[in-house]
Amino acid sequence: MAHGMTNEAHGKDITRIALVGYMGAGKTTIGKALAEDLALSFYDLDWYIQNRMHKSVSQIFDERGEEGFRLIERNMLHEVAEFEDVVISCGGGTPCFFDNMQYINQQAQSVYLKCHPDTLYAHLHMGRAVRPLLLGKNTDEMKKYIATQLEEREPYYLMAKHTVDVTLMDSCLKISNMVAKLKETLHIG
Ligand code: S3P
Repeated sequence: MAHGMTNEAHGKDITRIALVGYMGAGKTTIGKALAEDLALSFYDLDWYIQNRMHKSVSQIFDERGEEGFRLIERNMLHEVAEFEDVVISCGGGTPCFFDNMQYINQQAQSVYLKCHPDTLYAHLHMGRAVRPLLLGKNTDEMKKYIATQLEEREPYYLMAKHTVDVTLMDSCLKISNMVAKLKETLHIG
């Protein structure tokens, strides 16, 4: 039964799912669990960039600035979004630059993992060191930054074909419930 995007070139059905949403929403955790459940390969765009460039995202920001990172990110998105039978976790900013979100929608079943800013903060305050956009911000600055940037970015995220609220997902059981919900949303499995 066809449940993905049809690859016209080969005339066979393929599955390609792209998760978008703010940093800390759980794109990687949910993406991995969904890929495992559906026996698909999992790609995290940040990890892919780091492997291809032999540098961390923070190093790329330091050396080339955000503009340089966004160019690399777009190029790598165009590689990963050609892969077949995959779940792709995009970076939090990926949909908001160039025509990336249109491209994601053209290539994949896209899902916005929507999450309340308080929950994003709770998930992010431990991991801010590896996220260049949050580096050096205190609690108040970080809360304000998340709320403001989420508001700016949400119009892009909402272009995804589906939206699933992940605010209350914080344990293994809930992750498996979330996978079930995503499968139902995507009519897969
Ligand atoms: C970014 C999100 C990060 C990473 C980079 C910039 C953003 O990805 O691409 O630090 O602009 O929101 P995650 O959403 O996977 O943390």
